[in-house]
Amino acid sequence: MSTDIAKIELEGKSYELPIVIGTENEKAIDIAKLRAQTKYITLDPGFKNTGSTKSAITYLDGENGVLRYRGYPIEQLAENASFLEVAYLLIYGELPTKEQYDEFIASITNHTLVHEDMKQFFEAYPPKAHPMGVLSSMVCSLSTFYPESLDPDRDENAVNLTIHRLIAKLPTLAAWSYKNKMRHPFMYPNNNLDYCENFLHMMFAMPTSEYKVDPVVASALNKLLILHADHEQNCSTSTVRIVGSSHANLYASISAGISALWGPLHGGANQAVIEMLEQINADGGDVDKWVEKAKDKNDPFRLMGFGHRVYKNFDPRAKIIKKACDEILNKLGIDDPLLEVAKKLEAVALEDEYFKARNLYPNVDFYSGIIYKAIGIPTEMFTVMFAIGRLPGWIAQWKEMRENNEPIGRPRQIYIGENERDFIPMARR
Ligand code: CMC
Repeated sequence: MSTDIAKIELEGKSYELPIVIGTENEKAIDIAKLRAQTKYITLDPGFKNTGSTKSAITYLDGENGVLRYRGYPIEQLAENASFLEVAYLLIYGELPTKEQYDEFIASITNHTLVHEDMKQFFEAYPPKAHPMGVLSSMVCSLSTFYPESLDPDRDENAVNLTIHRLIAKLPTLAAWSYKNKMRHPFMYPNNNLDYCENFLHMMFAMPTSEYKVDPVVASALNKLLILHADHEQNCSTSTVRIVGSSHANLYASISAGISALWGPLHGGANQAVIEMLEQINADGGDVDKWVEKAKDKNDPFRLMGFGHRVYKNFDPRAKIIKKACDEILNKLGIDDPLLEVAKKLEAVALEDEYFKARNLYPNVDFYSGIIYKAIGIPTEMFTVMFAIGRLPGWIAQWKEMRENNEPIGRPRQIYIGENERDFIPMARR
């Protein structure tokens, strides 16, 4: 960290502000005391250029398409690691030793069941309930079964127990939200299976027939979850941190993150991409027509799965996913016309001046839906899959925020409403 100073001139007076430099030479002007010194605040809707924290979890260089968790390149992790290994890395800061890993897996495996009473909550939802709404509610409901977890700072063991419970139970809750929608019987977790296999078992097994997890499918899922595991201060992660900054418990904070993820501009884009590709395909597959629509400012249509707030060259996750998509569809012997539409759409958009000028490239959600579809995940569950993947990142960010004892999140505003005026009784209005 540097002791360099930035100078700012306001109304003829000069002020000095500290400069902060990160380990990858990212630079910031620390404006925390600006208002106290000058009465000015900074204004930045959407926090496009505002750092909310110093974090040691994920490094992202949007100009050069770099993504690293705790220093490890995403490409290496996606190729070699298991999702729970990455979860451990994100949450505890280092890759686990064999002993730490075994202990972590044993604890997660031990907590996969959810309380039987929760089944009644599921049964009360109508079949048309979107699984993201159910998941967010169920995660918050977990807090009611563990009242001792309401104090987020109780002690390290208690916090770890909540963390392990969440990681263990989220796949169960996710799979049950789907089973409930189908009005199929819930499948209990099978603790002889690993994390991804167990989720697939709870999704697709039936009491009436045997279900064997395909290793190609489990490995594809493992990769997708790793690619989604963290992405520094995005909309849902910032939500988790800001909710947690009020000292709300971890279940409530994660539930809020799930809700933030749901929107189509964020995690909900993976569902929106498939729906868009289906629409284009049903319309005859004329991708030029849809690219023109996306460019038309009078048309609300946007190319879903394109563009990113921070990646302005390429999204490294999209590169990995595109390759994985080809491999997995090949291995499974699936010929999906939507993949062809997606590739044509990408090729046309990447050559188009509108997209080039705005640095709009396919993001992580562009091809992930095609893989999810290939491995049998229903469209409405795509964003739920993203939530399972993002959970360790949310937890790591929440934990870091609490350990750094960060202050409650509370942005300021510039008021542009009416000046003071007197109340007028209704009869005179
Ligand atoms: N299709 C057409 N035009 C676009 C698109 C798009 N997908 N994305 C951005 N633009 C245009 C936008 O209209 C604006 O044009 P102009 O400068 O002429 O007004 C310019 O590009 C900049 O866009 P912005 O909306 O100001 O950029 P942002 O950083 O606020 O938004 C985004 C980023 C991801 C919300 C946006 O690109 C978008 O809506 N993309 C589609 C939804 C999507 O795929 N979301 C998933 C994001 S990646 C997964 C995740 O992290 O959740």
